[in-house]
Amino acid sequence: MDLNNAWVLVTGASRGTGVTIAEEFAKSKAKLVLIARSMDGLRETCDRVEKAGGEAHPIAFDLHDITRIQDLVGQIRQVAPHIDVLVNNAGLEKYYFYTNYSTEDITSILTVNLMAPMELTRLLLPDMLKRKKGHIINISSLGGKIGEHYNTLYMTSKGGMDLWTATLRKELYQTGVKITSIAPGGITDTGMIHNIGVPYPALLGSCTSRDVARAVVKCTSRYRARVYVNSLPVMPLILLNEIFPMAFDALFRWMGISKGNKEKVYRRMRADNVEMEEDPETMAA
Ligand SMILES: NC(=O)c1ccc[n+]([C@@H]2O[C@H](COP(=O)([O-])OP(=O)(O)OC[C@H]3O[C@@H](n4cnc5c(N)ncnc54)[C@H](OP(=O)(O)O)[C@@H]3O)[C@@H](O)[C@H]2O)c1
Repeated sequence: MDLNNAWVLVTGASRGTGVTIAEEFAKSKAKLVLIARSMDGLRETCDRVEKAGGEAHPIAFDLHDITRIQDLVGQIRQVAPHIDVLVNNAGLEKYYFYTNYSTEDITSILTVNLMAPMELTRLLLPDMLKRKKGHIINISSLGGKIGEHYNTLYMTSKGGMDLWTATLRKELYQTGVKITSIAPGGITDTGMIHNIGVPYPALLGSCTSRDVARAVVKCTSRYRARVYVNSLPVMPLILLNEIFPMAFDALFRWMGISKGNKEKVYRRMRADNVEMEEDPETMAA
């Protein structure tokens, strides 16, 4: 797709990887609509987009409000006549032991990470189909393919996002509208894992937000259905998880992923003032 003057919508553009994705589109002179809750963060991203040569319009919106996404689409239409590229990037995670999650956690994470992208896409897709042109890019995660300890709701939302993408891709065949799932490994320079401050296990490989942003922009010109963004090959891990799941789980424990993620849980629980007696491994001992 020629991105010069194309309308690109990026959710989760107030901080983290969404900012770099917006900047990377701006280099191709795209016009951006940026969505997140923080208007201050969005304004900062708009400044960066303009410095990179693009044009950006911020819309503050909480994607938990799934029943109001129709209103959001109304606001988008006041700014952009149509959307050529939709990047479903907004997401949240919560490292917790499963029994410590609340009903609200389940609703919140699945709504923002999975249901809101589905609803936004459902509402923007008819116009793309009419124009026989459009690209939906979903930012999922390597974790959604293999599952990682103590972040079950997030991993589930990303696994769901991948299956939704793969299913809708079949329905969109020969419509002119494309859909891609971009699955990064751990992003080391910004974003949710970087912010927790527990080092990412070197044996898993990693990537930067720039790697992710470049992969996003690249797939608009050279179509790929699914892209993994990681410094090390991911297929051996994915296949091991599929074929020998117990061996995969043992490998993950050996690599220290269980331990590192437990540290993330403890940090989060301390921040939330939650008592820490529910460690499932301690309970099983
Ligand atoms: N970081 C990683 O290592 C990693 C790895 C694989 C995949 N990913 C995926 O990459 C994407 C970006 O991750 P990141 O690390 O850059 O995340 P981040 O730094 O935590 O930023 C998340 C973005 O989502 C927005 N957001 C969160 N809740 C929202 C809500 N209710 N309504 C609207 N916007 C909301 C945030 O803005 P506000 O708070 O202003 O609303 C922010 O702009 C996510 O989908 C994530 O799952 C990240």
